[in-house]
Amino acid sequence: MIFRQLNTTSCKTYLIGSETTNESILIDPVLLHVNEYASFIKNSKLKLTGVIDTHTHADHISGAGMIAELFGVDYIMHQSSPVRCVNRRVSDGYLLKFGDASCNVLHTPGHTPDSICLVFEDKIFTGDTLFLNEGGAGRTDLPGGNPGDHWESLQKIIQLPGHLTVYPAHEYRGREPSFLENQKKNNPYLQFPSKESYIKWQTGLKLGAADWMKDVLTANSECMRDPNAVAIPRYIPACEVMGTATTAKGDEQIVFVISAGEIKRRIAENQLDNTLILDVREPSELKEELGAIEGAYNIPVGQIEKRLKELEKYKRKTIITVCRSGARSFHAATILMKAGFKNVFNMEGGMMAFRK
Ligand SMILES: [Fe+2]
Repeated sequence: MIFRQLNTTSCKTYLIGSETTNESILIDPVLLHVNEYASFIKNSKLKLTGVIDTHTHADHISGAGMIAELFGVDYIMHQSSPVRCVNRRVSDGYLLKFGDASCNVLHTPGHTPDSICLVFEDKIFTGDTLFLNEGGAGRTDLPGGNPGDHWESLQKIIQLPGHLTVYPAHEYRGREPSFLENQKKNNPYLQFPSKESYIKWQTGLKLGAADWMKDVLTANSECMRDPNAVAIPRYIPACEVMGTATTAKGDEQIVFVISAGEIKRRIAENQLDNTLILDVREPSELKEELGAIEGAYNIPVGQIEKRLKELEKYKRKTIITVCRSGARSFHAATILMKAGFKNVFNMEGGMMAFRK
């Protein structure tokens, strides 16, 4: 089989095809990257025969409609999909063929009612129904989401052979795809003893998806062709259970983390132009062995509250707080979020991790 994952971001887009006939399908394309996919497919002389969304996405605008139009192929989704421009609707058990390759459609509602997994001989594309390891699985608090259905869907996946490699639609922490066997042992979402306990846990969290996610669902249902139709915050593990939620009390916000490796990658790829790195160590520490990230803005954690005005101009940007080990920067991130800053991330492990 020909097989490629095409994105560098946490959204994963897969291209899979037959080595003998070059017929291939594209899974979960992102509108922002459609031109890149199109040139890749054309340059590699693959014959695209279909494009699939594993579910109606709530965190990015889908590129499937545009790819279907560009290549004159079917846009395939589950029969319950609300997406208007889908022209081939499939149901549970459907055998999707392209060339001498094929996969089975497994309907796995819960994250959304139209979620499907695609089961190949040695791979399973799990969409947001199952993520990797401690990433667990997609959230069930989006409109139409249902923890009971999700639990049932996870049970369907557990029944599948362990040799399948799991390829989710998102990977937020740089984990590598792994065998389903490992997920059965290590993924906490596959360890719940009963449907009741799973529902109790999910509903007990009393979370709620951010409004922008509901706007993205609507945009995708209406086949929006503008990648900036909705202001989508970057770097947020939005489809994870606690991705955009406040805590049950509603007065304390969850601080998102970003790994030092991810920041390094974004620096290397010049992707930090809309980001402020806020180093909250004492100024003298920035000159010590660990140094500082180039361009970082320095406000010691103890001064943040009284210097909030200085940061007002960065309110629309992503702010990544940094310190030596990640502890002071966590506190700094909390202060910023309480002051109304929305896109705040704490660099996990601080400069010690960055230098490693
Ligand atoms: Fe999703």
